[in-house]
Amino acid sequence: MMKRKLKNILVTGGAGFIGSNFIHYIFKNTSFCGKIINIDKLTYAGNLENLNEINRRYSGKGYFFERADICDFNEIKRIFQKYDIDTIVNFAAESHVDRSIFGPRDFVLTNIIGTFTLLEVARENWKDREDVIFHHISTDEVYGSIEDGAYFYEDTAYKPNSPYSASKASSDHLVRAYHKTYGLPLTVSNCSNNYGPYQFPEKLIPLMLLNIFEEKTLPVYGDGKNVRDWLYVEDHCRAIWEILNKGKEGETYNIGGENEWENIELVNFLCEKIGQLQGKDKDYYKKLITFVKDRPGHDRRYAINCDKIKRELRWRQIFDFEEGLDMTIRWYMNHQDWVDRVRSGEYRKWLEKNYKAR
Ligand code: NAD
Ligand code: DAU
Repeated sequence: MMKRKLKNILVTGGAGFIGSNFIHYIFKNTSFCGKIINIDKLTYAGNLENLNEINRRYSGKGYFFERADICDFNEIKRIFQKYDIDTIVNFAAESHVDRSIFGPRDFVLTNIIGTFTLLEVARENWKDREDVIFHHISTDEVYGSIEDGAYFYEDTAYKPNSPYSASKASSDHLVRAYHKTYGLPLTVSNCSNNYGPYQFPEKLIPLMLLNIFEEKTLPVYGDGKNVRDWLYVEDHCRAIWEILNKGKEGETYNIGGENEWENIELVNFLCEKIGQLQGKDKDYYKKLITFVKDRPGHDRRYAINCDKIKRELRWRQIFDFEEGLDMTIRWYMNHQDWVDRVRSGEYRKWLEKNYKAR
């Protein structure tokens, strides 16, 4: 298996949950010694505090940050040329399904037009270059909902049901088309639900953890029997790193936890774990569970088959769910400052002050 020589990696959306974990992963777990250029628009979900340590240790010496919108062609082109980019990892997106239901516009702009803009800049700047790679981060949600016992494979037909997944599906199709039509060197990965440090507390696991800590209501949508497949974020980051280094051009790789849980089972489990940690009765926090109105178009079950990446790139999940959850629970318990600043919006005030001129 040939290993690519990655030099100047453009990470889009690197201040978000998975993007910031990915940057930490590279500096902590690999011998990469080129440049990481993080571009992020810093929406509500982008938080540079996620990268404080990286910034302090590597800024200007391997790590660079530029605030930019991936929809801005001229700005992306400038950054592309300034750093002589040879690798792109496109995380930047509007990522929360509920927000896409309330207001799909930003999803269409960032997820579709933003990806299109990156593809165009790459096409213009990478003419005939073979030592380059564009990796697009996608989701299992593009495959739609699947019945019990069946799985999503890389060639499963797309059937997105929310504005979020429809916008991600659309960007995946553009990526595929740029490979087929223009020969742009591309790879795609479709991953299941991630959890871990730095996840914005609007997503199920951090939202439930924080509400349990504060003894607030735990809102479970519908009957709580929707199924998700959970993967610890560092396992996802390592899969992306493997694909960047060894993934075959033009290929899609499914990534998953092989770890399916009904939402209600998972929320019960979180209640028990935290109860145990705090020396309370194991059912103590369950009284907080409240069934609320269902999410419109709520997909019933996602389930990824990830045999291909295991077979071809020798990737596998390292963290089992209990271990990953323990690390995540402890991370949120030990980062009350981060939580307070995110929830109060304090982290954005800092941003506005520091980036007022732009
Ligand atoms: P996130 O919402 O935490 O982070 C998104 C980041 O993108 C933020 O830093 C935000 O500021 C930035 N961004 C948004 N619009 C931008 C724009 N126009 N220009 C530049 N930056 C912009 O998301 P996440 O959960 O880290 O997800 C990252 C990627 O992984 C997304 O593409 C998502 O679809 C995909 N994904 C997420 C999961 C999951 O469970 N979270 C699972 C599979 C795939
Ligand atoms: O499958 C990958 C996808 O996982 C990613 O592409 C998305 O970016 C990411 O947000 C996530 O989407 P989900 O909709 O699956 O994640 P969320 O955490 O919003 O919800 C998980 C499940 O929990 C889902 O069935 C809805 C339910 N839920 C969610 C919230 C926020 C609740 O029951 N109550 C809640 O308060």
